[in-house]
Amino acid sequence: MDLRPFLETALAAAYVARGIHQLYQDKGFTQSTKSTPTDVVTQADKEAEAAIRALIEQRHPGHVVLGEEEGQQGEGEYRWIVDPLDGTVNYAHGFPFYCVSIGLEVRGEVMVGVVLDTARGDLFTATRGGGAYFNGRPMRVSRSPKLLGSLIATGFPYDVARDRENLTYLERVLFKGITVRRPGAAALDLAYVACGRLDGFWEVKLNPWDVAAGWLLVEEAGGRITGIHGEPYRMGNRYLMASNGHIHEELLATIHGR
Ligand code: IPD
Ligand code: CA
Ligand code: CA
Repeated sequence: MDLRPFLETALAAAYVARGIHQLYQDKGFTQSTKSTPTDVVTQADKEAEAAIRALIEQRHPGHVVLGEEEGQQGEGEYRWIVDPLDGTVNYAHGFPFYCVSIGLEVRGEVMVGVVLDTARGDLFTATRGGGAYFNGRPMRVSRSPKLLGSLIATGFPYDVARDRENLTYLERVLFKGITVRRPGAAALDLAYVACGRLDGFWEVKLNPWDVAAGWLLVEEAGGRITGIHGEPYRMGNRYLMASNGHIHEELLATIHGR
């Protein structure tokens, strides 16, 4: 299957979204909240998704889109999974770690993934079987062999105050002296595992739009993705662990207190 036309669409849509992020970052934006007072959505989230949808519909009529802000209408063999702005809280504060994430699933398998970091301009791309690229150059996961000395990231769902599960995992990892970051954009965290800036990442309560593109980036860059119990990762599993592969079992064991 020639994936290039789809990669081109994903790239075009990602750059349109980035332009919208930048426009509202410059001129100011309205915002409201969703599930909790800290679950923010801005004009940029909504307009970026609308623009991505319009571009996909124009180039690939009949393809289905699942987007964070507008959901999904219908079913189909080709499904674009879109987070129009991942890291909205960072965006709203001008903390420069946010991105757009676009994945294309064909008959249930992610085949194309693009993550574009708005602030830095870093571009992460992958096609199934075609490798993964960082700013146009082949990218590989890190070589760190051990958890101690690795750089790990995690994230917290918006309802963390009601559900402390990930605090337990975090405490276990920190207690072993492992360095942990909470950058605040899951798709970009996965891209960072793929390019070797992070050695591992786990999170609970993710959604398909956080994961679709980054999952392929990590696999095509030679890394490993599983559920939080080490089971094969499946779309829709809200619990995810990604790593360079070498530290995977140790990180799984650590979060479960073994
Ligand atoms: C969130 C970010 C954050 C993660 C949350 C996500 P959003 O996405 O990826 O890092 O911890 O679980 O919901 O709301 O900024 O698109
Ligand atoms: Ca997100
Ligand atoms: Ca989002």
